[in-house]
Amino acid sequence: MTDLFSVTDRVAVVTGGLGQLGTQFSKSLAEAGAKVAIFSRREFGREQIAEKFPGLEDRIRVYVASVTDKAALQQATDRLIADWGVPHILVNNAGIDSKPSGSADQNSPFEIYPQEYWNEIIDTNLTGVMLCCQVIGSPMAAAGRGSIINVGSIYGIVSPNQALYAYREKRDGKPFIKAISYAASKSALVNLTRYLGTYWATKKVRVNLISFGGVKTANFDKEFIDAFLERVPMRRQAEIDEYNGVIQFLASDASSYMTGSNVVVDGGFTAW
Ligand SMILES: NC(=O)c1ccc[n+]([C@@H]2O[C@H](COP(=O)([O-])OP(=O)(O)OC[C@H]3O[C@@H](n4cnc5c(N)ncnc54)[C@H](O)[C@@H]3O)[C@@H](O)[C@H]2O)c1
Repeated sequence: MTDLFSVTDRVAVVTGGLGQLGTQFSKSLAEAGAKVAIFSRREFGREQIAEKFPGLEDRIRVYVASVTDKAALQQATDRLIADWGVPHILVNNAGIDSKPSGSADQNSPFEIYPQEYWNEIIDTNLTGVMLCCQVIGSPMAAAGRGSIINVGSIYGIVSPNQALYAYREKRDGKPFIKAISYAASKSALVNLTRYLGTYWATKKVRVNLISFGGVKTANFDKEFIDAFLERVPMRRQAEIDEYNGVIQFLASDASSYMTGSNVVVDGGFTAW
């Protein structure tokens, strides 16, 4: 059973692997014996790696590349292949959103929602995943093996319930509408995943999506959390490390017959 979930000596790319969840995925995959290549927009030296991931510095490296920059992704991938060989696992984790506590401008009513915010979120969350699949997934397909894990959201399945955000208008006196772009970008990953899962099925590159619910962090207003938890059957957010298991499952041979799937891990949010 342990071998079934093994990722020992597999090479994993985690995009945005220094963020909240990305740090967890990088750490837990490295602890399980994988070699982890974090694709990050900023430089992160060996000393910083040792400080952030104590004891794992031999198995974690950071390569500088934005997921929206194909040339930088290609350069980082070429270096990674020279260092560690063709990756076995790609976790498309990098993503951006406008937060419930963010500016009202980024969450203005749909009728006047600025296109620049739409472009920024679609570029990172959708085009970024497509480019990483193209640049990093293609050598995996040529090698005839691999697992790509896309990181989605409950808002890729259901629309944000605007009632959860109504406290902002009451508090600030300005309209606050949770924007369309994040939901549109994450729902597009559902079919991008099916497309590539079927496209590369005979090349033995599996492509799956995980649709996460909200994670417990300090970034949220109390009013938002109270309203949100009323709509979560389990009445709690996920702990920060609670998604690591499903990442390892999809990265390993334990999920060898799965491709094109959307694995929903949300405390029951979308079941109501
Ligand atoms: N936190 C949640 O509650 C939650 C819920 C559902 C889904 N998700 C998804 O999980 C993923 C990680 O979210 P998080 O909460 O850890 O966010 P985060 O902001 O802590 O981490 C995201 C990381 O992606 C990086 N990033 C952003 N744009 C990039 C780019 N162009 N190139 C490379 N890296 C880039 C950021 O620098 C950051 O390190 C996202 O895709 C998010 O949509 C999060």
